[in-house]
Amino acid sequence: MNKKTFKDIDVKGKKVLVRVDFNVPLDESNKIIDDTRIRAAIPTITYLIHNGAKIILCSHLGRPKGVVAPNLSLAPVAKRLQEILKQPVVLANDAIGESAKKLTADMKEGDIVLLENIRFYKEEEENDDDFAKELASLADVFINDAFGTAHRAHASNAGVARHLPAVAGFLMSEEIVSLSRAVEGAGHPFVVILGGAKISDKIGVIGKLLKKANIFLIGGAMANTFIVAKGGNVGMSRYEADKVAVAKNILEEAEKLNVKVVLPVDTIVTEEFAPNAKAKKVNSYNIPEGFQGMDIGPKTVKLFKKEIKRAKTIIWNGPLGVYEFKKFQKGTKKIAKAVAKSDGVSVVGGGDSVAAITELGYADKVTHLSTGGGATLKFLEGAVLPGVDMLEDK
Ligand code: 3PG
Repeated sequence: MNKKTFKDIDVKGKKVLVRVDFNVPLDESNKIIDDTRIRAAIPTITYLIHNGAKIILCSHLGRPKGVVAPNLSLAPVAKRLQEILKQPVVLANDAIGESAKKLTADMKEGDIVLLENIRFYKEEEENDDDFAKELASLADVFINDAFGTAHRAHASNAGVARHLPAVAGFLMSEEIVSLSRAVEGAGHPFVVILGGAKISDKIGVIGKLLKKANIFLIGGAMANTFIVAKGGNVGMSRYEADKVAVAKNILEEAEKLNVKVVLPVDTIVTEEFAPNAKAKKVNSYNIPEGFQGMDIGPKTVKLFKKEIKRAKTIIWNGPLGVYEFKKFQKGTKKIAKAVAKSDGVSVVGGGDSVAAITELGYADKVTHLSTGGGATLKFLEGAVLPGVDMLEDK
């Protein structure tokens, strides 16, 4: 990486503002469902503790749109972080107000203050310079470790770097190095697995990876748009009518480049979009009227597994079915297992794909589990990430 990292600066006795991505999923009673993103920030925090820094953590949680939303307080995160680190983590009631100033004024080496949800201020997403300056005034140096947010140009991850020496944290560096290595040094066959609802989220990454990969395995609702582009009937299934032409172009481009695109051949369908809806298996190109696709079927799983097995590089982003309903997680989980068993280099990003790998206990079986959703896709499509771009060059 051509950016300075935490190892290039002296943090002893300094107040270090660390932008982390603690945007973790919460259930209705505000319990953390998955603490992967908190754990992913631990190496940087531990390094700072051991090297005598005074640590000021800053994160967003959800999308409160500039207003204080008590259900999006970082309090559960502070508690979880405290349990993991086995040391006190003090939560400031605000990010730039009196509480933040008071709590960060007399910190000792190794102390940790977590600022309250930065998106309670509308100035955060506006990347307001006065706001960024105020935030920066709490610290001596800035470390950006929030890879998951690096595709946003917000005050706490990009703006603040105008006012403080700014370097990358451990997680940020590791994400960039691992993702770059997977794409640039890819062994072949290079297989890309894409799922999720929309082609529109993934057009950029498809365009970029079509020139590098050999095989695309496409599932989830986005596969329906490709099936419609090929003349199939997807019944009531979700698809993007305005992206059928885009899907057609992608298929033509793939053919020209000799890239194989494997689409589902069988689909698990239901009449209702509900967790326990009665399901049946049908041909993916001929879904009966009134039925909608919920998961890939066993023949598709078999086809996908065959390609995964011989892959030397695998990049996977997005679930292959309706992952929020347990009954329709089967396809995604079978693919997760196949990816984990692969001998190739494997990179998995996106909430549900990562959740499938983690829930099955395969987290240490993949080469790199990315903490980014949108950020990972943006990085893979070769976009400049503002949260990285603003950091000091080596
Ligand atoms: C994410 O969950 O992808 C990041 O935390 C960014 O969140 P955002 O999409 O709300 O900006």
